[in-house]
Amino acid sequence: MNKNLVVAIDGYSSCGKSTLAKALARKLHFIYIDTGAMYRAVTLYFLRNRVDLTSEVMVKEALKNIHLNFHFQNYQSHILLNDEDVSDEIRQMEVSQQVSEVSAIKAVRTEMVSQQQRMGKSKNIVMDGRDIGTTVFPDAQVKIFMTADPKIRAERRFKELAAKGENITLEEVFENIAHRDYLDTTRKESPLTRAHDAIILDNTELTEEEQLSFALEKITPFLRDKI
Ligand code: DC
Repeated sequence: MNKNLVVAIDGYSSCGKSTLAKALARKLHFIYIDTGAMYRAVTLYFLRNRVDLTSEVMVKEALKNIHLNFHFQNYQSHILLNDEDVSDEIRQMEVSQQVSEVSAIKAVRTEMVSQQQRMGKSKNIVMDGRDIGTTVFPDAQVKIFMTADPKIRAERRFKELAAKGENITLEEVFENIAHRDYLDTTRKESPLTRAHDAIILDNTELTEEEQLSFALEKITPFLRDKI
């Protein structure tokens, strides 16, 4: 049987999921799919078009007009919203503040999950998000659940945003992360939770290289018959 290999990485906001996922995809020549970017792009579309989140009709209508694609260039993954590269815009605070609410909407999740399942079908992929190991690919061969001290997560994200020139304080970033953790773990539709068979990776005190080695060690046994 030549089944494709799926590496599912889930965990809290700003815990380094995408850094690890990208490093793995690069090392293994797998496709990287950032599902958070998909929810962010939907949020951006909703903000731009003033979609009323409480109106199921408006949300469903808007979803029909949203076409998402990934484009890979120089090992970087870019997200295209109706053919426009919105990779930078989706990281802005305005989107971060709305995305948990948008991603809690059932119609949004149903559409994103089905697109993610299509994207990952018959390819070797590393996919990161909140519900990959539980809902999108419950049969993924490797599942990693990432976590880290919230203070460290806020400091890391603050440095990233400051480097991009965003005018924001460390306290605001901390608040945003804590609020998103709360919404992500308590929402009704596929809340963030560790799959029973996911390996926990707490990276509070680990370097990126150490995290990569940890993950590669878990994945290697499944690679033997793939490469
Ligand atoms: O990983 P991120 O911070 O870019 O994700 C943005 C938001 O999208 C986050 O608050 C939770 C949501 N999300 C989700 O609900 N399910 C996913 N698979 C990925 C992200």
